[in-house]
Amino acid sequence: MKDSAKTHNGYLKYELKNFEKMPVKIWDDSLEASRHVARSIALAIRQKQQDGEKIVLGLATGSTPIKVYEELVRMHKEEGLSFKNVITFNLDEYYPMQRTARQSYWRFMHEYLFDHVDILAENIHIPDGTVQMEQVASSCEQYEKQIDLAGGIDIQLLGIGRTGHIGFNEPGAWETSPTRMVRLDHLTRHDAVKDFQSEDDVPYRAITMGVGSIFKARTVYLMAWGQHKASIVQQAVEGEISTLVPATFLQKHPNVKVVLDRSASEELTRMSAPWLVGICNWNDDLICKAVVWLSQTTGKPILKLTDEDYNEHGLSELIIEQANSYELNIRIFNRLQRTITGWPGGKPNADDTSRPERAKPARKRIILFSPHPDDDVISMGGTFQRLVDQGHEVHVAYQTSGNIAVHDYDALRYAEFVLEFGQVHQTMPEEEIKRFKKIIQFLNKKNDSSEDIPEVRSIKGLIRRGEARAGARFTGLPDERIHFLDMPFYETGRTRKKPLGEEDIHLVMELIERIKPHQIFAAGDLADPHGTHRVCLDAIFEAYRRLSGGHDWMKDCWVWMYRGAWHEWPVYEIEMAVPMSPQQLRKKRQAIFMHQSQKDRPPFPGDDKREFWQRAEDRNRDTATQYSALGLAEYEAMEAFVRWKG
Ligand code: F6R
Repeated sequence: MKDSAKTHNGYLKYELKNFEKMPVKIWDDSLEASRHVARSIALAIRQKQQDGEKIVLGLATGSTPIKVYEELVRMHKEEGLSFKNVITFNLDEYYPMQRTARQSYWRFMHEYLFDHVDILAENIHIPDGTVQMEQVASSCEQYEKQIDLAGGIDIQLLGIGRTGHIGFNEPGAWETSPTRMVRLDHLTRHDAVKDFQSEDDVPYRAITMGVGSIFKARTVYLMAWGQHKASIVQQAVEGEISTLVPATFLQKHPNVKVVLDRSASEELTRMSAPWLVGICNWNDDLICKAVVWLSQTTGKPILKLTDEDYNEHGLSELIIEQANSYELNIRIFNRLQRTITGWPGGKPNADDTSRPERAKPARKRIILFSPHPDDDVISMGGTFQRLVDQGHEVHVAYQTSGNIAVHDYDALRYAEFVLEFGQVHQTMPEEEIKRFKKIIQFLNKKNDSSEDIPEVRSIKGLIRRGEARAGARFTGLPDERIHFLDMPFYETGRTRKKPLGEEDIHLVMELIERIKPHQIFAAGDLADPHGTHRVCLDAIFEAYRRLSGGHDWMKDCWVWMYRGAWHEWPVYEIEMAVPMSPQQLRKKRQAIFMHQSQKDRPPFPGDDKREFWQRAEDRNRDTATQYSALGLAEYEAMEAFVRWKG
């Protein structure tokens, strides 16, 4: 209760105040936000051009600024934005690192920006990951001098790491630190695995501009997207200045702007508990959020919350305007209670007025879209099983091949198996033997920076196909209801994907038209750190929109969104919660186990150390625990869904 104070009526009450110590702008999504930042940069570039001056940009790498660079490139190509007067200094580079290596920031910057605009090569500066150890200190000093000589940085772009780092200034970095060599934090190295196949390959060191160097920039944009950044953003923006979260030093900067998408802002008080910040426009959803928050904050089940609890936690307004606490509690309790159903496809012959799904038709046609070949069982394996057991016509559609997440050693094992089988049984034509020998040779020689040849991609995709089929069959699906879309946007052989294309959308449309589903289940990762889920979702949304126009049956098609492997919907947003018994949870685990190539450490696993089945179980158990703590029935685990209303 550190933000509380005695008020005149004797109640302890949270003060209404601004918790944010830096100016923050929140956008609906990262694309809109990135366009805004890109426009501000373009404006500054043009302004300087008019004055015949150069502009100095401080640039970041990582996933955060990508859309800003894409927008700048678009402006260059379509709107004639020139970079001839632009000088750039990048924040950092791994050490040691060859420029041409797949993971180098030098390569990143050229691929995303420099190769596509008219910047002069001599105006590009990136810390050098190739200098000898003895020369690192002087090369850093030189870097600082070059920044000064260029007149200092006009606009500095920053992302934020989950450790709170800016550049590679990890916890412990001092406020006036200059460009120097640093050791990377354990969490940062872990997050970098997505670019490096395995954690062992991630360098231990980097060269980075210091907090002091960043601080000298005249304008700083600190950007963050996605729910996985929400906690560190809250600490950076609302926390005390501390070397433990280097981004908090920016609170002292005279011209810093924090730019967030909605998900990254979720833990700021104005979003998580807006009633503590100002007057609210209360609607049913916000009231539900407030009551759930109050129950969680006080540790009391909803039906035990008192008028005093509301008053003492900044919610007196709610019980004065809306009702007394007793009525309010019951209203929200019932709302949450009604989200729980063991009939995710609707309960036949039941009154469905306050159930999440329609009773009719009793047997529904359903498509479960799974972005990767295992999201179906990881994220909704229990519900999937129930839908099948309850007699619905369930189809599962695997949207992408998922080939990038298969280790080379698995591909090698399968390639050798096919070759040996062919040789032992003498069933393989000579060219096929040659072809497989070539594949095996490629895999034996492959190093971390080479991309897979198409045959290897195909083997990896087929491995995942087999696993997906095994998982779906285990759940009881006949083969003709298992569909592989292999959406082309995914097929680049690297983590960077193509944008969503017409062919992708048509594949989804064709299946929907053929099945004419009453229910679609989709991975609703609206802000997805693993961009594939978001692209897969956009394909479904777009297909849905296009089909809605011309088909009556589409009116009966409801879209339910589950969340991918990352995190669950907040309880107050859940519209359907499907409980699982301990046995059902065990069965779900077995279906996940069918995805053998994804056990232990698949390549590019994201930023979570647990295996997929553990994440899934922890998450489903946590939802059940939250429901029971609110005073609702206690289940072993629950899967949660939100309905997309177009
Ligand atoms: C990159 C850099 C880092 C990143 C940060 C966030 O040049 O210095 O501080 O900005 O690690 O990374 P992403 O954007 O990949 O989440």
